[in-house]
Amino acid sequence: MCGIFAYLNYQVPRTRKEIFETLVKGLQRLEYRGYDSAGIAVDGPTKTGNDNNQHTICLIKKTGKVKALDEELCKKDLLDLDEKLCTHFGIAHTRWATHGEPSAVNSHPHRSDKENEFVVIHNGIITNYKELKAYLIKKGYDFESETDTEVIPKLIKYVYDNRENDNIAFCTLVERVIHQLEGAFALVFKSRHFPREAVCTRRGSPLLIGVRSEHELSTENIPIQYNNAHLMEGVQEKNSHNNSDCSSAIDSVGDGRAVEYYFASDASAIIEHTNKVLYLEDDDMAVVSEGKLSIHRLKRKVNENPVRAIQTLQMELQQIMKGNFDAFMQKEIFEQPESIVNTMRGRICFDTNTVILGGLKDHLKEIKRCRRVIVIGCGTSFHAAVATRQILEELTELSVMVELASDFLDRNTPVFRDDVCFFISQSGETADTLMALRYCKGQGALTVGVTNTVGSSICRETDCGVHINAGPEIGVASTKAYTSQFVALTMFGLMMSEDRLSLQERRLEIINGLKMLPDLIKQVLALDKKIKDIAEELYQQKSLLVMGRGYHYATCLEGALKIKEITYMHSEGILAGELKHGPLALIDKDMPVIMIIMKDSCYKKCQNALEQVTARSGRPIILCCKDDTDICQNAYHTLELPQTVDCLQGILTVIPLQLLSFHLAVLRGYDVDFPRNLAKSVTVE
Ligand code: F6R
Repeated sequence: MCGIFAYLNYQVPRTRKEIFETLVKGLQRLEYRGYDSAGIAVDGPTKTGNDNNQHTICLIKKTGKVKALDEELCKKDLLDLDEKLCTHFGIAHTRWATHGEPSAVNSHPHRSDKENEFVVIHNGIITNYKELKAYLIKKGYDFESETDTEVIPKLIKYVYDNRENDNIAFCTLVERVIHQLEGAFALVFKSRHFPREAVCTRRGSPLLIGVRSEHELSTENIPIQYNNAHLMEGVQEKNSHNNSDCSSAIDSVGDGRAVEYYFASDASAIIEHTNKVLYLEDDDMAVVSEGKLSIHRLKRKVNENPVRAIQTLQMELQQIMKGNFDAFMQKEIFEQPESIVNTMRGRICFDTNTVILGGLKDHLKEIKRCRRVIVIGCGTSFHAAVATRQILEELTELSVMVELASDFLDRNTPVFRDDVCFFISQSGETADTLMALRYCKGQGALTVGVTNTVGSSICRETDCGVHINAGPEIGVASTKAYTSQFVALTMFGLMMSEDRLSLQERRLEIINGLKMLPDLIKQVLALDKKIKDIAEELYQQKSLLVMGRGYHYATCLEGALKIKEITYMHSEGILAGELKHGPLALIDKDMPVIMIIMKDSCYKKCQNALEQVTARSGRPIILCCKDDTDICQNAYHTLELPQTVDCLQGILTVIPLQLLSFHLAVLRGYDVDFPRNLAKSVTVE
């Protein structure tokens, strides 16, 4: 729920101002992960004492967005902004509150004591913090915040205060702390006892490291090292480099020459500095000392990869900038003609009508033999599962269940070895979805990830998967990821049905539909002005109902979710078939209703629903097919949409609702990209 960013320059002189700018820019890129407060820790002025000079750490924290922190940092009297620092390590954090209200004291970095001996930034949740806190309080350590995180700096200070000798390494202290922690975390540590040294680690929350150097790196494959790593069954002692202390790293990046390191929750904060990145695995600990980066394992696994590779990212900075749009969400809505092409690129051959999802092809036989397909996700990702369930059932001829990850877990849903479980997640980090994945893995099912984030936890932990390739989605309200998930799941159905003779005509129709889709999306986007006019009529309303059925039930759920999350209006997606069973009571001349009535197998039934609404003086705004005069004459307003294959039509009906929610939110004066109380990546249950 939070964004972590840290920066270490080694033998690369930078002014404090430049360092602040780098830290703030990094936080701004991560602001979508949480934005109720932000803070940084940097080196303060060195104190001269009798025996030796003492390093200090300066903490600056502010509630509100990163902009507020930036304004604070610009104050000249805080630190000398022009001071040049040859080597320096700064850490920064943007928070989304889980334990303790948004406030400066609850925001990160958290500190060990008033002298700031150790400071820490954290993304995740420490589930055993209450026990640790009680223990540390008993030992005389004072706490100042209400957060779970604060136990970490206090604990490292406790370990440091009780060290057996003065030569103890920073990473050894961290390692001892980690062994006491339960829960999920990505952590970066800074200490005034170990100036210019960085230690970071992760378990369950993402963390990656960017490396920038003018020189060629000494290695791009860093062998992992084992210190006092807990030996797991089946691991051969002889395979490991068994250092007793982290400081004796035997192979590392950086060979004493100038180098810069960037530590971040995701690549969007790093890409403008370097495209060379290393993804940490759970229980990896990265250490930078004397400019050298080395990777240590806190736990050993059977057959684990002995190296961590520095990869080259393909993402471009331009992809994560707002361009000419006012908000990321708006930009992402308008990107959909291209983003769905990117989802299909290299996977559909329109000449031969074949679909190959490279990440699934080796598992296809196993998938075809399965007893049922279970598609699991949260929020918008769950809606993508609802939207494609019918076509997946038709094309796979299998039973397809769709599940909300949290409910699926609450029910301890029976899962079997011959089930195939799909995990849909834009971020690839959603805690509920990740837990459901681990649960299904434990039951022996084949697990398939459908994510938008390369290197995310869900990508790594599933047996196989599909990247939707929609490009970075920054707006908290998911838009282009939904349509790309929709397309990816449909492609999976097409791949499964390639050898089904009876389905060839249907497949052809869908493949042709996919080919035409980008142009049809452009036609829908051209309705933006009309949608804005409708928004102007609606924006002062309290409530908005969205009604449809069949392929469009998912659109109703997704449209209503978009409206509530960014406009804060009450909105409900209603299955038109349920109208008479309760929701009809809501209808009168004042209740705004949006109805989706497309020419498909539910058309007649939807017309009935329309009659029921108009008979109660309802004034429906109708999304219908172009030139559907029958429908138009009963509507208060219409949005006429181009027609495509029934199972793809949901991609065209959701876009007007994305646009409507955007305009409503702007008219109501809300920050579209940062809705209150919400974060882009929900990494806690
Ligand atoms: C709504 C939205 C959320 C996410 C949900 C799952 O616009 O974005 O409902 O869809 O939190 O997130 P992912 O897809 O990252 O697992």
